[in-house]
Amino acid sequence: MGFGTRLKVTLFGSSHGPEVGVVVDGFPAGVPVREGDIQADLDRRSPVGRRTATKRQEPDRLVLESGVSGGLSTGGAIRAHVANEDVDRSVYERLRWTPRPGHADYPARERYGDSADLSGGGIFSGRMTVGLVIAGALARGVLEPRGIEAVAFTRSIGTIQFDPDLDTPIPSLRENSEQNEIGCPDPATAVQMEAAIGAARREGDSLGGVIECRVSGVPVGLGEPFFDSVESEIAHLAFSIPAVKGVEFGDGFAAASRRGSQHNDPFYWDGDRVRTRTNHSGGILGGLTTGDPVVFRVAVKPTSSIARPQETVDLRTRTRAEIVVGGRHDPCIVPRAVVVVESIARLAIADLGLRGGFR
Ligand SMILES: Cc1cc2nc3c(=O)[nH]c(=O)nc-3n(C[C@H](O)[C@H](O)[C@H](O)COP(=O)(O)O)c2cc1C
Repeated sequence: MGFGTRLKVTLFGSSHGPEVGVVVDGFPAGVPVREGDIQADLDRRSPVGRRTATKRQEPDRLVLESGVSGGLSTGGAIRAHVANEDVDRSVYERLRWTPRPGHADYPARERYGDSADLSGGGIFSGRMTVGLVIAGALARGVLEPRGIEAVAFTRSIGTIQFDPDLDTPIPSLRENSEQNEIGCPDPATAVQMEAAIGAARREGDSLGGVIECRVSGVPVGLGEPFFDSVESEIAHLAFSIPAVKGVEFGDGFAAASRRGSQHNDPFYWDGDRVRTRTNHSGGILGGLTTGDPVVFRVAVKPTSSIARPQETVDLRTRTRAEIVVGGRHDPCIVPRAVVVVESIARLAIADLGLRGGFR
């Protein structure tokens, strides 16, 4: 349950246990830690007050336990958690022997046996991302004084897409995407996306989508080739987010059908700085940052827990079974995962920067 080399992140807890949280080791001393800022990121993940989210009431109030004194990090391990305040195990007791298609129930049960606590998805629940959000908010303190800014936003929901220009300033992407609960920087597209999620929910179904993240101000040369390239670090963390099934950098899979003359980013001098005319590479060459914004996208699958009859198996009787998943689920995970993607980008860049490259 841990990741990172200089900034080591360990998640603890589970969906229906007493709490979920994180321990961050290796966090530098003397970095300002503002609880209000961490809480603001947790609020962006919380379902409370969202029309398009689960009806679980999870206010996710931050409890900072150690590693911070007088508003500054001490250099010791930072431990923080939120309590699980809205827990209903009854639905999951019924699902005990009939694994939900598309969820982790079946392989987790085979792996851990009867002792697996799969209520609410257990350690496979989206609730585990609370710890990633807390750690990512802490990493802001390392990045922002260096002028490094990250923003994630909803690029598509189902077949509805908005593709902002690459030169759109990060503050405006942030401001506009925070105006609606979908996290899409274009208000008209956000309305369509919300309607699509509502329609899927009414039909007992769910939707997926794509989240894009852009990180600006990253110095040239961050990354630890061969195996800890910038892509590897970001992808490793991104694939840890439940329901993420694809990651691409820059032009990603589209690059495969282009020519070198179309895909290369020409260099030029801008005063005494080397810049590129385009950013098809997503700000990464040879596993190192180029100084251009790091751009990546993650594909989020449609929520597996849907309110429609689905075929499954009964693990006790070894027969065919049918389930209709009860409980309270997100009809689309994307809007709540936006801040999670932003958080893992900060973590990856902060960890790589502390390993080498921050001057
Ligand atoms: C913020 C967030 C919220 C989620 N909410 C739900 C949910 O309400 N219902 C559900 O079935 N899955 C939800 N998931 C996804 C499951 O945890 C995930 O699909 C499951 O663990 C199987 O893992 P996999 O999809 O990565 O293969 C959520 C994920 C995230 C990141």
